[in-house]
Amino acid sequence: MQKQRARITALGRCIPERVLTNADLEKIVDTSDEWIRTRTGIEQRHIVEKGTPTSTLAAAAAQDALRKRGIPASEVDLIIVATVTPDMMFPATACIVQHKIEATHAWGFDVSAACSGFLYALATGAQFIESGAHKKVLVIGSDVMSSIMDYTDRSTCVLFGDAGGAVLLEPSQDDTGILDFHNEVDGSGGCYLHMPAGGSAMPTTKETVEKGLHYLKQDGAHVFKYASRKMADVSKLLIDRNHLTAEQVDLFIAHQANLRIIRSAQERMGLPDNKVVVNIHEYGNTTAATIPLAMGTAMDKGQLKPGHRVVVAAVGAGFTVGAMLLRWSGVPW
Ligand code: ACO
Repeated sequence: MQKQRARITALGRCIPERVLTNADLEKIVDTSDEWIRTRTGIEQRHIVEKGTPTSTLAAAAAQDALRKRGIPASEVDLIIVATVTPDMMFPATACIVQHKIEATHAWGFDVSAACSGFLYALATGAQFIESGAHKKVLVIGSDVMSSIMDYTDRSTCVLFGDAGGAVLLEPSQDDTGILDFHNEVDGSGGCYLHMPAGGSAMPTTKETVEKGLHYLKQDGAHVFKYASRKMADVSKLLIDRNHLTAEQVDLFIAHQANLRIIRSAQERMGLPDNKVVVNIHEYGNTTAATIPLAMGTAMDKGQLKPGHRVVVAAVGAGFTVGAMLLRWSGVPW
């Protein structure tokens, strides 16, 4: 089997209609639009109707990508879903999506790497194209963060939103596609951002629910410091390793967790504002969906053109860290 570069040939997204603004949150917890905007850059986030599972957003984003590419789901070989809010512990959300979109010839699995999940899934999916094993791999990032949010905890509930994003990977016929990636894990950081109950370490009981241990918990300041440092570190590492200068980078797509984290990475990379994608004000942190959503925003704004050299970076719970260098191939939009 011949080694071949993987490229993104289609992009899709699913954004729930319901909007939760900072003003709405002011009515629920002791916060203010001013605090949220100045500390995070977030102005609103989209939230599903209660009971809508991650697979619904994932399937809709995948169908959007396939429709734009003009191929049926039956041509897909593999589905990888990055999520920390799977429909249930098992079966994998990828299996549920496979059934929903009728990808009759696909196999699939989930990737759990939180906010780095989409990048990890993209790097994984690319291996199946590069090895020649598959021709069409769907990589999906989808999260219903509202399902694990404590809406009495102002330090977390203002940060997150719900969404799904998807890309199709196919063999590249030219010099476009995924050029390089670098991923890291620092498991010593697990305690700073996690959901304590509901797994085998702490199965759900009446007590865990009463204590709210089925909600996301985080030490925001610690996560902020780590993310600010690592987002820039891995992006710089990839730029240096590929002998590039800031001028040769056309676009920086960062995981959208906090505008200050994005700006600090941008500053250390020496990039001007027009080379950085920002949509956190519209969607908040949608965890595994932020990067495909940001690709969509870049397409909407005309920031992403065929041949563009793009650096993508993310930091998430784990801690997980990832960066990828790609040459954009252009997608139907
Ligand atoms: N509204 C008003 N006050 C608030 C709110 C709120 N929504 N949330 C916290 N506060 C208060 C705290 O209670 C604290 O008050 P105190 O000093 O009286 O105890 C104070 O604000 C904390 O203020 P700061 O330390 O200045 O807040 P900071 O600048 O650290 O911002 C934030 C907090 C936004 C959570 C920041 O730490 C952050 O963004 N961390 C990263 C978290 C993150 O993005 N996680 C997502 C997943 S990981 C990833 O995606 C990278």
